[in-house]
Amino acid sequence: MSVEIIVADITTLAVDAIVNAANESLLGGGGVDGAIHRAAGPGLLAECRTLGGCPTGEARLTAGYDLPARHVIHTVGPVWRGGGAGEAALLAACYRQSLALAEAAGCDSIAFPAISTGVYGYPAGLAAAIAVREVLAWQNSGSQPGRIILCCFSEESAAAHRAAMRQHEEKSLK
Ligand code: APR
Repeated sequence: MSVEIIVADITTLAVDAIVNAANESLLGGGGVDGAIHRAAGPGLLAECRTLGGCPTGEARLTAGYDLPARHVIHTVGPVWRGGGAGEAALLAACYRQSLALAEAAGCDSIAFPAISTGVYGYPAGLAAAIAVREVLAWQNSGSQPGRIILCCFSEESAAAHRAAMRQHEEKSLK
């Protein structure tokens, strides 16, 4: 059971599932969504077209196609609207729903991008605290996947996740 914080391009990770920070259409976009579709090839969009979209806070599983990852789990994070529109609960749900789909698919490893912290404007520190809390709670419940990677795209994002991890560990020692 491990949680790793790394800086990498998530499309290069040979894990059982990578998580895509998608939009409700599931028909692609920019950011990590664009990178994943480019690396996976046209088969991914073809399968996404059959899914009929995905509500914010939920997740959908597809194959990985030309990616080194076996599966892609598409989740739709909340757009940051200042924090009073249920954003924290929706972001937490993205992590939990993605982990539940990964466990149901028999995944031993999963990598998350920093969901909602790009185009959707979620403050990096607040989002990292939610990501760390949810993945540690999942692992502490003894559920699979045993290997969880928080795949950041910058040192700054990784630093926010490491700080969140330290704060979580300090709180749990009190
Ligand atoms: N690997 C890992 N992380 C990445 C990559 C990559 N190749 N590319 C971008 N990221 C990071 C960003 O730096 C950011 O920290 O993923 C995080 C999420 O940013 P976005 O991709 O902008 O996603 P999000 O903020 O959730 O907005 C979703 O953007 O691309 C569109 O279709 C998508 O409409 C949806 C919206």
